[in-house]
Amino acid sequence: MGKDVIIACDFAGKQACLDFLDKFTGRKPFVKIGMELFYAEGPQMVRELKARGHKIFLDLKLHDIPNTVEKAMAVLSKLEVDMCNVHAAGTAAMMEAAIRGLTRPDGTRPLLIAVTQLTSTSQERMERDLLIAQPLEEVVSHYAKTACNAGLDGVVCSPLEASQVKTACGAAFLTVTPGVRFADGESGDQVRITTPEGAKALGSDYIVVGRPITDAPDPVAAYERCLKEFTD
Ligand code: C5P
Repeated sequence: MGKDVIIACDFAGKQACLDFLDKFTGRKPFVKIGMELFYAEGPQMVRELKARGHKIFLDLKLHDIPNTVEKAMAVLSKLEVDMCNVHAAGTAAMMEAAIRGLTRPDGTRPLLIAVTQLTSTSQERMERDLLIAQPLEEVVSHYAKTACNAGLDGVVCSPLEASQVKTACGAAFLTVTPGVRFADGESGDQVRITTPEGAKALGSDYIVVGRPITDAPDPVAAYERCLKEFTD
């Protein structure tokens, strides 16, 4: 898979999501289904978007004991999504279990990536709330190496951390990066952010963009702008 823009379809329900995607006449953007939409509409939403021809990143960020994650992943593997994820904080044992669960009898599986530290987490919040005192960059690199050693395909991280992840884990290890904002846009609740152009320069493989596209007056134009800045 090449470099691409993944639209975070953070909608409250099916109709809002389909109305949004209907604006993209003739185009089938790579989409991300997260907790909000999945919890509202269930697996049928995934099947529907798959049937419409979209590639799907199912962003459910699993984080539980290895046995539970393995069984949940076995269920998700049947949805035939392109990418799904877990929290690296679940530890190597949980990530290895996730791969076992996700792998189908024929040996195929969707890409599996790990969330390192959420892009809404700052150094201060991590120290205060999680009692992790190391520099955020070191924590992200360590989580990425653990994910890589567990056999995962990449991580979700801030674009600002993409190059250090590549250095730690190799160029083929994927970096999927939310926290992307246009130079002239709002940052919202995201903290470790950059522009699509910045993410490209920093070596992201995929950028995940939500509100800058979904809340734009012209979402298709915003998507095109993202794609152009990121891939040109
Ligand atoms: O609207 P916005 O562009 O901030 O959307 C970013 C998307 O990426 C959201 O769906 C959010 O859940 C997701 N995400 C994130 N940071 C992570 C992992 C996922 O922002 N570390």
